[in-house]
Amino acid sequence: MDRLELEERIIEIARSFGASLKSLGLYPAHHPIIKKALSRSFDLLSSILQMKGDLALAIADETLVFEGTPIFQLSSSEELFVKTLTDEGIEGLVFHQGLTEEELVTFIDTIHQMRGKGLTGDEIQDMLAQNGVVHVTVVTPEKVEEDEDLSKAKEIYENALSVVINVMKDIRLGKIPSGKEARKVVHDMSSMLRKNRDAMLALTMLKNYDEYTYNHSVNVAVISLSIAESLSIPETEKIDLGIAALLHDVGKTQVALDLIRKPGALTLEEFEEIKKHPDEGYRILSNMEYIDHVSAKIVREHHMGYDLSGYPKPEPGYRMEPLSPIVSVSDCYDALTTLRTYQKPRTPREALELMTKMAGKSLDPAMVKVLIKTLGIYPIGTMVRLDTGEVAVVSAQNPEDSTRPKVIILLDSQGKQLEFPIHFDLTEKDPKTGKFVKTILTTVNPLLENTDPSRSVA
Ligand SMILES: [Fe+2]
Ligand SMILES: [Fe+2]
Repeated sequence: MDRLELEERIIEIARSFGASLKSLGLYPAHHPIIKKALSRSFDLLSSILQMKGDLALAIADETLVFEGTPIFQLSSSEELFVKTLTDEGIEGLVFHQGLTEEELVTFIDTIHQMRGKGLTGDEIQDMLAQNGVVHVTVVTPEKVEEDEDLSKAKEIYENALSVVINVMKDIRLGKIPSGKEARKVVHDMSSMLRKNRDAMLALTMLKNYDEYTYNHSVNVAVISLSIAESLSIPETEKIDLGIAALLHDVGKTQVALDLIRKPGALTLEEFEEIKKHPDEGYRILSNMEYIDHVSAKIVREHHMGYDLSGYPKPEPGYRMEPLSPIVSVSDCYDALTTLRTYQKPRTPREALELMTKMAGKSLDPAMVKVLIKTLGIYPIGTMVRLDTGEVAVVSAQNPEDSTRPKVIILLDSQGKQLEFPIHFDLTEKDPKTGKFVKTILTTVNPLLENTDPSRSVA
């Protein structure tokens, strides 16, 4: 089937949908006139689904869009269909393989019944599910709302990035940087995390960067603040912690750059040099305005280790700042899940497993537990295979059931990349059987799946 043929079939489908909607004003859904019109479009739709797995249609400016190209030659029937969807605020439809003729009839009937009721996207999807329509996904602007949070989160992330870059630049130029901007951006991060934690955390999964230290610093701040949120740490302490996390590696400005960027293992002397960065960081933060002494102490202690076996070596009986372990576990988690020249990234799950082994030794066991609780069993950004064979990336947690997060399906059951990634809530049940529609089978390594989880949040 070539593109032209496909388009012709889509136009015919839209036409019969429109004609059926018109007839539904006069006849019930199971009237032969409607059944006949929809039976033809069901055959056409089935042939497309068989070939492509899914059929995604977008609606933009009252025009049907297929694979990025608008389909213009619509007659009044097709237009009625498109207009109805536009009026209801529907921006796209995805038909999935497995769709039955009965479902299609119910789908059109449901669209007819909800006309003019001003339902939200979730309400439309719920109504469809209640009526037994599970193979059609409705795309609505609710995602746009989510996107607004995401773009705000991105803006804050970018600001935090420039704060780290500027602070480190000032230090390299021999200036004493101000902590004012760091304090402000940590405030913004903290309120964004309260508003939409998942949007902020999703950004820490974008791991394809050129300059490791800057993104790493922001990620550690986001993760540390999320942990602090889980622990209900008071706001002022939280800000001091966030500042420490954001600036935890600024001491690396005092270590030769080629050493920091060196691929492969370090020699003993080189490692001794790197080990100076927490003390250097402490010295720098202690001289900065708008920075509390506790932040400087946390920076000094971020590699000290729960069992105090790390660096710098503390004097006997040394007592660490209670907030330091938060930065240590966040630092460890972000480093493990990031691709470095000398290390392939671990999946979030592998990282948490490894950290569980480190708990009680270099990492505080209680804090590792809080990290796991904060990020969930399937942290945002985890790639998973569903029992349908589809591959998805975890996009948000479901507080009621951590084994059933919200996901974005990226690959179909044949391993083919979807044109429109599908947002899906794994707590969704088939109303007929009462069983979950899709379930996580296993986690997968993005490197083996030829797909990039960050695509869904980019
Ligand atoms: Fe460090
Ligand atoms: Fe670090």
